[in-house]
Amino acid sequence: MSVARQARYPVIAATHSRKKPLTVTQLKTKLLACDAFGITRAAKLLNSGKTVAIPTETVYGLAADARSDNAVQKIFDAKGRPAENPLIIHLARPEDLPRFARAGNLAMSLAGRFWPGPLTLVLPAKENSGISRVATAGQRTVALRVPAHETARKILGAFGGPAAAPSANLSGHVSATAASHVLDDLGGRIDAVVDGGSCDAGIESTILAVEADTIQLLRSGAISAEDIESEIGEKVLLGSGTGAPPAPGRGFAHYAPKTRVRINADRPGIDEIWLGFGSNAKEDSMNLSKSGDLSEAASNLFQMLRIADKLAIESGSAAIAVSRVPDYGIGRAVNDRLRRAAEGRKDWQA
Ligand code: TXA
Ligand code: MG
Repeated sequence: MSVARQARYPVIAATHSRKKPLTVTQLKTKLLACDAFGITRAAKLLNSGKTVAIPTETVYGLAADARSDNAVQKIFDAKGRPAENPLIIHLARPEDLPRFARAGNLAMSLAGRFWPGPLTLVLPAKENSGISRVATAGQRTVALRVPAHETARKILGAFGGPAAAPSANLSGHVSATAASHVLDDLGGRIDAVVDGGSCDAGIESTILAVEADTIQLLRSGAISAEDIESEIGEKVLLGSGTGAPPAPGRGFAHYAPKTRVRINADRPGIDEIWLGFGSNAKEDSMNLSKSGDLSEAASNLFQMLRIADKLAIESGSAAIAVSRVPDYGIGRAVNDRLRRAAEGRKDWQA
């Protein structure tokens, strides 16, 4: 999970490769390689209050110094993100947790088992930890994550501080799982992007709120609730009623391509782009996973939605029709994103 995959799905990578030269606007954003020079440069940019998109094992994150109101504000501005939607704070090492949050035994064992990795913990924030209130949107809690991606960890280590980083897409749009997706959405609006190839998991981290002895799922993600329960031996509460506040961002429209999305489809209509799953396939169409593997479907989801959107716009298709995906394990995270994509977003502008 820690190493960026360059092209596990060569057909898709080729379809999406950039054939046109970068535009002048996009060139304002430096494209850095994930080598020693790129990592050092990215850390320096973060230290001087700039915004840098970095690869993680889930999706690309748009990072800035979490201690600086000014730097964090640049993230909100670049994404067009509502100010009341707090950001996840990314740390280089699990040992950094106590500097920023109060963690009991349960939170410590979750961090011990799943960090570094695609799990975000929402915990009571420590006062005077130095995290900007712009980043936490004034919440009394803070969302923390230690990514497993080698390049992300090197950049965070070289930077030396906490980095606020939401997904590196325009607010409300499909998350970015390749540097080219970041440039498509944010080229010219951010200072740099580090190209670490395609993200492995391809879907965001699982978010848990941990309060005393309860664990509440705030967002399904790359680690399934079933896996967390079996590792920790504690129930993960789904839905509300536990007293933990919902993730504020869950109220906003998300993951919407420009084209309408129709989910749980049995087959495509004549004017629809088809996104199949398993044996529910159509010749020459995209398939989230031919073998019906849910992790592969999660990994392909965002890039295939972006491609389907482009194809639909080019061909004047009315909608993207997506096959039914089983609703267990990682399938729950896939269905969550698909439902939100299908809700659409009327006010979304590229
Ligand atoms: O995999 C991921 O989590 C990626 C990578 C870049 O780390 N990040 C990501 O960030 O998905 P973003 O901003 O797109 O989604 C973070 C979610 C939002 O719904 C936000 O409302 C929620 O986390 N969140 C942040 N701080 C919170 C808090 N204190 N309490 C509850 N929810 C919080
Ligand atoms: Mg996001």
